[in-house]
Amino acid sequence: MNNNAYLKCIDPDCGLEYPIKSRNIECERGHLLDVKYKKTPSPDLKELFYNRRNPQGNIFNESGVWRFRELLNFCEIDTDNKDECSKYLVSLDGAEGRQSKPYHMSKVADFLGMNQNCLWLQPEGYNPSGSFKDNGMSTAVTHAKLIGAKRIICASTGNTSAAAAMFAANENMDCDVYIPAGQIAPGKLSQAYQFGAQIVQVKGNFDDALAKSLDDAKNQDGYTVNSVNPFRIEGQKTIPYRAIEYLNWNSPDWIVYPGGAMGNLSSCGKALMELYEWGWIKKIPRIAVIVSEGASTLYDLYNGKFGGKKLRWNKGKPDTELIENYYKYLDQNGIRPQTKATAIQIGRPANILKGLRALEFTDGIVAKVSDAEMLDAMSIVGLNGFDCEMASGASPAGIRKLIGEEIIKKDDVVVGILTGRQKDASLAVDYHNDPANLFAIPPRG
Ligand code: F0G
Repeated sequence: MNNNAYLKCIDPDCGLEYPIKSRNIECERGHLLDVKYKKTPSPDLKELFYNRRNPQGNIFNESGVWRFRELLNFCEIDTDNKDECSKYLVSLDGAEGRQSKPYHMSKVADFLGMNQNCLWLQPEGYNPSGSFKDNGMSTAVTHAKLIGAKRIICASTGNTSAAAAMFAANENMDCDVYIPAGQIAPGKLSQAYQFGAQIVQVKGNFDDALAKSLDDAKNQDGYTVNSVNPFRIEGQKTIPYRAIEYLNWNSPDWIVYPGGAMGNLSSCGKALMELYEWGWIKKIPRIAVIVSEGASTLYDLYNGKFGGKKLRWNKGKPDTELIENYYKYLDQNGIRPQTKATAIQIGRPANILKGLRALEFTDGIVAKVSDAEMLDAMSIVGLNGFDCEMASGASPAGIRKLIGEEIIKKDDVVVGILTGRQKDASLAVDYHNDPANLFAIPPRG
């Protein structure tokens, strides 16, 4: 290894650095880490990435993650030889990210009140485990393999555990998943069982499960694969890469995500910062993060709904006391995150600081939507022949809201990310069985 890649603390006043083979997820002062690269990738790679869409029998070209491997080259591979790559890179036979690209969905565009040609939706549910998590899990497990870890560990609202368990099974690693008991979609739970993970049921919500899994990882030598792991963020950068590549490297005006632990917000922000710094894109898209009304931490803090102050990255000096006070307020008043979109039922977004940095760089915004709005949006996506889960419905629902508020304009170019497939069949059945729902097609007979 030539030490071109390394880890660096995100706090500009701290800036501690670690070698790439470190298994730390934070610096010794407790700040999150970034993967950094010393070399600036040449824009000529754009053509290479495009040409790899004809994979020529190489699964690492087929993969929507590893097709961009030069932009996440923390293993410092400098060969295209498939066998050499496979010594390092973890892939489910090239399936992660392979089918992901933006689509027009005319019925959704009409419902949102947008010009049909301006709206793109990118289904990340068509990943092998059914969610965007496979993008970041392939890279996190690659790092686990690089440092010789034998057991990976995560907390999850369901999709992370499915992705972790799938890659672990394929790589012959053990996998422990900590889940909030009774609060994850049945389809997600069954995946974790089926892929042979050890389920650890935690009383409480996702935030409690994460705290417990991080403790156990430290004490029992597990390798954490939640999005606080900086290598997860590297793989998830490929979500905006694929969208922007599809638009011929012309930035859209907006990229819109549902928000939970804010891993996606962080990774999209990092991808855009790097592309801009390298001169690969000329315009910085704005990121809109959409949270649930029942789990609205970032919405409240970013928009000054708590303590009267708007929380900002503030060039690396965020008001972390405001965040602590908000969490204290939640605890003291017994307020728990509450939404039917269990994937984003998160009160303490672990990546909040990286998320704020992304919002500052992109002049981003945070909006919130109700459960009913997410369900309608999930359903209209279905009527275009794509399925997505309820949390993913936050993207179109949020775009609709922001168009109504004239923050997003009807002919802005917008890419909304549909983060996962439907894994809770009862949600769609219940929706359509109730004729009062906007898009319901109740059964006959
Ligand atoms: N959408 C889906 C379908 C998810 O599963 C998640 C997160 C999010 C959005 C939010 O993404 O955390 O990057 O802001 N699910 C995690 C899990 C927490 O455990 O599967 P984020």
